[in-house]
Amino acid sequence: MRRKLVVGNWKMNGNRATNAELLAGLKAAGPWVAEVAVCVPSPYLGDVALSLQGEAIGWGAQDVSAYESGAYTGEVSAAMLAEFGCRYALAGHSERRAYHAESDQAVADKAKAALAHRITPIVCVGETLAEREADQTAAVVKRQLSAVIHTLGHCISQIVVAYEPVWAIGTGKTASPEQAQAVHALLRAQLKAATEHADTMKILYGGSVKADNAATLFAQPDIDGGLIGGASLKAGDFAAICRAAG
Ligand code: PGA
Repeated sequence: MRRKLVVGNWKMNGNRATNAELLAGLKAAGPWVAEVAVCVPSPYLGDVALSLQGEAIGWGAQDVSAYESGAYTGEVSAAMLAEFGCRYALAGHSERRAYHAESDQAVADKAKAALAHRITPIVCVGETLAEREADQTAAVVKRQLSAVIHTLGHCISQIVVAYEPVWAIGTGKTASPEQAQAVHALLRAQLKAATEHADTMKILYGGSVKADNAATLFAQPDIDGGLIGGASLKAGDFAAICRAAG
């Protein structure tokens, strides 16, 4: 059986004081049956690593450079993230794809760079509302995942996939459990064609997951946990979602 994974994506929120309060709340609320992690803004990785040392909560970054080192102003390398004990790095979140024009190949290269430093990339895929309405959902997520499969080869089994329909992110509109499961099943089938370990891989759902809809989403056979944005900013809300995955 796959152990569920719940990852908080703080996005560009918080400060040192609110982060400390949030982490204290989470530490008090755990432990959970599910694995739990938070992906935080890079400047706070040092604080978060110190605070979560020895705790059952992992941490990670929201992006990672595809490059090893050098003249890439503003980028943060996988080696740097590894020095701060990151277990995870998001790759290809839809906000990065949309606002930073990250291509499918760029996302695949980021995933590869993370793995080279033993950081598990959480590769995000998902369709826009226009794509869903044009019946392009399957084609879009397949294309996005395919770039990663081709770039990673047999190492594909080491990633986590997150299905996040763009129209559900931060909008309060969640995919129904059936809609989400249908896409997760497609992604699992695609992974099965690429690796014999697809049944052990985690595919998370993200997009307006809240305490009151988490349990039914997580009950779907191919939904192995969640990537949580807004609801990961309050300890009580996030803890309830982690409990729903137990
Ligand atoms: P949301 O964000 O939970 O606020 O919809 C999810 C995400 O963007 O990862």
